[in-house]
Amino acid sequence: MRTQVAIIGSGPSGLLLGQLLSDAGIDTVIVERVSQDYVLGRIRAGVLEEGMTNLLDEAGAGARMHREGLPHDGFDLTFSGRHHRIDLHGLVGKRVMVYGQTEVTRDLMDRRAATGGVTIYEAANVQPHDFEGDKPYLTYEKDGVEHRIDCDFIAGCDGFHGASRKAVEGKGLEIYERVYPFGWLGIIAEVPPVSHELVYSNHARGFALCSMRSTTRSRYYVQCPLDDDVEAWTDDRFWDELRARLPRETAEAVITGPSIEKSLAPLRSFVAEPLRFGRLFLVGDAGHIVPPTGAKGLNLAASDVRYLFEGLREHYADRSDAGIDVYSARALKRVWKAQRFSAWMTNTLHRFPDMGSFGQRVQEAELDYLVGSKAASTSLAENYVGLPY
Ligand code: APR
Ligand code: PHB
Repeated sequence: MRTQVAIIGSGPSGLLLGQLLSDAGIDTVIVERVSQDYVLGRIRAGVLEEGMTNLLDEAGAGARMHREGLPHDGFDLTFSGRHHRIDLHGLVGKRVMVYGQTEVTRDLMDRRAATGGVTIYEAANVQPHDFEGDKPYLTYEKDGVEHRIDCDFIAGCDGFHGASRKAVEGKGLEIYERVYPFGWLGIIAEVPPVSHELVYSNHARGFALCSMRSTTRSRYYVQCPLDDDVEAWTDDRFWDELRARLPRETAEAVITGPSIEKSLAPLRSFVAEPLRFGRLFLVGDAGHIVPPTGAKGLNLAASDVRYLFEGLREHYADRSDAGIDVYSARALKRVWKAQRFSAWMTNTLHRFPDMGSFGQRVQEAELDYLVGSKAASTSLAENYVGLPY
């Protein structure tokens, strides 16, 4: 088989890049390790910046998001027993769209199928080859047979545990990483969310987050030890701990119910540099991971896709490699600003080992200054809604 751009991974990065390229007349094939249902079974955050919603519209996959998504003009910060609303739209004239990543992925898969895009699911041992030359290719195994895809470029959209970054280890790859000393225990329950907007809570017992998937489906998180046992968290224990970390009036308003999903996730900050090796590009989680506190993961995948799409379109339309030559530097400039913001949100809202009562007071003072300063709140707002591409 031959294509112009071979894409490894059928997550948001691969699907979005594949659709934009295909719509621009550039041939693509996506090769995915697991089944379509498995991809759709992943539970991931869905706070979309305008840049992401615009790209979904450009890819012709935004209609259901506009119908079913929840536009949010602000969110709440709670600390020292008090509530403070960050008025995103009032401060910076922008909002975010709450729409689950699973739905984003589903809409992109439907769009790809409707436009005849080729995706090969359940492809084993996908490997990129000869990407430092001008005739790269992929190999993979399916139904016991090895296949080869010759191409012009390879987009490594295969996430943190994929094959693309592994293929460039030892080729000048620099890694920057911080693993946080705690995790998030998250549940989903078919109950109305406690508030129409998200609530981020700093508390001496630990961080808590009140989010949602719809007006009838809630998503809640509490910070917990990395080695905690999910099975030891009964629903009752979760609801009690969540309420203990919220201001009284909020805690009393929480509607509880049986969890339909419960999982523990570690928090990590990770950047691989550079994001380009000849004709292989690292995109999205393949190149970087942010702690979920700032909800930037999906949104950084979107800006990577935008930059790479523009570069590849320019290569084919204008016979110019200017765009792909600057892809890595351009993407990493925005990645590191989102890393900074995500680290600040995580450092300010979470309970760290041995931070003590002094450390707690400093966090509360930081938040108290922020909510009392239009300049500081505006800075928070412009980062949360997404910095310009
Ligand atoms: N071969 C083929 N496919 C692979 C391989 C491989 N060796 N390794 C991983 N994959 C697939 C995964 O099964 C997954 O479907 O690549 C896809 C990567 O998708 P994501 O991990 O979702 O990464 P990305 O598309 O960059 O999306 C980033 O999604 O995962 C969230 O938190 C993340 O919000 C961020 C966004
Ligand atoms: C979520 O809804 O899962 C979510 C929302 C906002 C975050 C993190 C996760 O910052």
